[in-house]
Amino acid sequence: MKAKYTSLTDALYTYLCECRSNARDPVLEALRTQTEALGDLSRMQISREQGSFLTILTAALGARFAIEVGTFTGFSAICLARGLVEGGQLVAIDRSAEWTSIAKRFWIQAGVQTKIDLRLGEAISVLKNLDPNQVFDLAFIDGDKTEYDAYYELILPRLRRNGLVLFDNMLWGGRLGAKPLEDPDGSALDALNRKLSRDGRVQTVLLPIADGIQFCRKL
Ligand SMILES: C[S@@+](CC[C@H](N)C(=O)[O-])C[C@H]1O[C@@H](n2cnc3c(N)ncnc32)[C@H](O)[C@@H]1O
Repeated sequence: MKAKYTSLTDALYTYLCECRSNARDPVLEALRTQTEALGDLSRMQISREQGSFLTILTAALGARFAIEVGTFTGFSAICLARGLVEGGQLVAIDRSAEWTSIAKRFWIQAGVQTKIDLRLGEAISVLKNLDPNQVFDLAFIDGDKTEYDAYYELILPRLRRNGLVLFDNMLWGGRLGAKPLEDPDGSALDALNRKLSRDGRVQTVLLPIADGIQFCRKL
């Protein structure tokens, strides 16, 4: 089969990051610098173009209510909150008070603090205790990889028809699709990718953005 995809090089990646609206957003760039000071952990932050993609998608969907699992220092939350309609709300879930204290400072700088409802705690427990009437237009999943499927099953019933669930890291650094994986995170993501492709409740496509976004529309 002739390849119908373009492999990225560092130069091509820099080019695509530059060819975006608001590529030098000062708040997001300052948040990246602050997060890099955490060292190796900063790899957990989503990529720049992924952030732009989340904002555009949230806005295009006309999303009012969104939810994310895995907030860290708040980059994806800013990008999602910026795309929400006036008066919209993002429920942001994370277990770390330390990392989300950085997030809260930058949400104020970005002017989105009133749009974000931070829930500190274990994601599964927070999801189980959400208001029973709460419905979402969009969900972004970026927490514990072995729990993605549990998040999905808890969020899907609350998603409106044609709402979207996006899962991050679904190409797992390029380690999927070849030999069976030893690590529990990669195995969980592989099992979820395969489950979603057969799941009659959603229509799904795995996009090679950053580390792979599994993009699901609720039927
Ligand atoms: C990959 S980072 C999220 C990155 C974030 N989306 C961003 O744009 O910077 C994963 C986050 O999930 C949180 N997390 C992992 N497992 C969790 C759990 N079981 N419950 C709540 N939060 C969890 C971690 O504390 C961490 O901040």
